[in-house]
Amino acid sequence: MDWRRKGQRVALVPTMGALHDGHLSLVRQAKQHADHVIVSIFVNPTQFGPGEDFEQYPRSLHSDAELCRQEKVSLVFAPDFSEMYGAKKHDRHQYITFRIKKMTEYLCGPFRPGHFEGVLQVVNKLFNIVKPDVAVFGQKDIQQWYLIRKMIEELDHPIEMLMGPTRREPDGLARSSRNVYLSDPERKAAPMLFQTLQRVRNGLEKKGTREAIPVDGAIISEEVKRLSENGLKVEYFSIVSTPDLQPAAAIEPGQTYVIAVAVRFGKSRLIDNVIISHKELPES
Ligand code: PAJ
Repeated sequence: MDWRRKGQRVALVPTMGALHDGHLSLVRQAKQHADHVIVSIFVNPTQFGPGEDFEQYPRSLHSDAELCRQEKVSLVFAPDFSEMYGAKKHDRHQYITFRIKKMTEYLCGPFRPGHFEGVLQVVNKLFNIVKPDVAVFGQKDIQQWYLIRKMIEELDHPIEMLMGPTRREPDGLARSSRNVYLSDPERKAAPMLFQTLQRVRNGLEKKGTREAIPVDGAIISEEVKRLSENGLKVEYFSIVSTPDLQPAAAIEPGQTYVIAVAVRFGKSRLIDNVIISHKELPES
């Protein structure tokens, strides 16, 4: 492949497969910024904790490859375990791994110990193997997004990183390969998550002012209660500053924040988030 010799730009869209419209929207975005799009498909075992869904995770390589063909993806990189981690099973427990501070103290970090270390491990390998000029990741996994951007900066990867907006079902549920785990009644109730996030964001935005807007803990408790009453067990409902992902007591002018939620619902775990920035607020 002499793309690079010809001066052509290469974009990478890393995925774990079971491709849906969210993944494909990243492919389309990648295409706007590069001559070739490479999609990687690899269900990475090192980012799944004990008791998580590594075995059950949906796998559909054939239809995924077909979707990539339809989207005119130049190359699908679907390595097997040994290609990524060496032939022996025990190599999965790498001798060298990431240690992340601060940015995993909140949101999903405490609920998925070791998860983001595994994500950075595999994404770092993918960057070194593919050497893309551009990489696209979704807002849906916003903590992952900020961590990868930090890794790009700290490890000097010469990669431009883009964020793809969260693609949703018509009723607002964020698309996810894991939505197949939802039962019918759970699927009907799941859009509550996005509605709740929007309500909290709208509440903050209504207070149009040039001043910092205090985050009202009582409103968040009220929303958490409402979700629990509908069977969604809230792991966290947080407003954090970016890019450091620390809890925010107020929305400060000129800053960008994330309102993020994770719930356990039946057999599933759902996450979602919205971005709020003070500059969007009407000036008083
Ligand atoms: P996966 O869950 O397959 O997601 C691949 C990419 O698609 C991620 O960047 C994710 O944020 C994005 N994505 C998922 N749902 C989306 C939606 N509804 N709208 C827009 N983008 C969406 O995230 C991973 O895989 C893995 O952790 C990976 C980065 C591949 C490392 O193994």
